[in-house]
Amino acid sequence: MSQNKGIEENSLLIKKAKEAKNNSYSPYSKFRVGAALLAESNKIYTGCNIENSSYGATICAERTAFSKAISEGEKTFKKIAITSDLNDLTFPCGICLQVISEFMPKGEIILQNKNNIIQVYKVSEFMPYAFKL
Ligand code: THU
Repeated sequence: MSQNKGIEENSLLIKKAKEAKNNSYSPYSKFRVGAALLAESNKIYTGCNIENSSYGATICAERTAFSKAISEGEKTFKKIAITSDLNDLTFPCGICLQVISEFMPKGEIILQNKNNIIQVYKVSEFMPYAFKL
C-alpha cells in the first residue's frame, strides 16, 4: 500500500470514529468514545461506549465495534481508530487491548488528539506478551 493510501485510510477511520462517538451512551461518566474498525474485508465497523447503571455492564467503544464485526462474520482485522473528547490521545483500556490482540495481533491503533495530530501504534507495542491459549 502506498503511504498516501495509508494516510487517507487513517483519516477516514478517524472521521468514522468521531461520527460513532456522537452515539455514545455515557450518562454516568460523560466520557464519549468512538471507534472505527477496519476488517481484512475492507469493511468498516464503528462502535461507541454504552454505559449502564450497573456500571460493570458497560461496554467500551472498541469492543462494541469488534462485537458488531465478529457477529457479522468477520474474523481478521487491520486497524482500529479511537477518539474521545479529550485534548490528548485516548488509549484503549486493558480489557480492550486483550480483545484487540486476540483478533488483530499484527494490527495498528490509530489515535488523534484535539490538534488533529494522528499517531499510529502497533498493537504489539502495547501487548508484547499478550495472554493467549
Ligand atoms: N471507555 C471506552 O469506551 N474505551 C476505552 O478504551 C476506555 C474507556 C469508556 C468506558 C466508559 O463508558 C467510559 O469510557 C469511562 O471509563
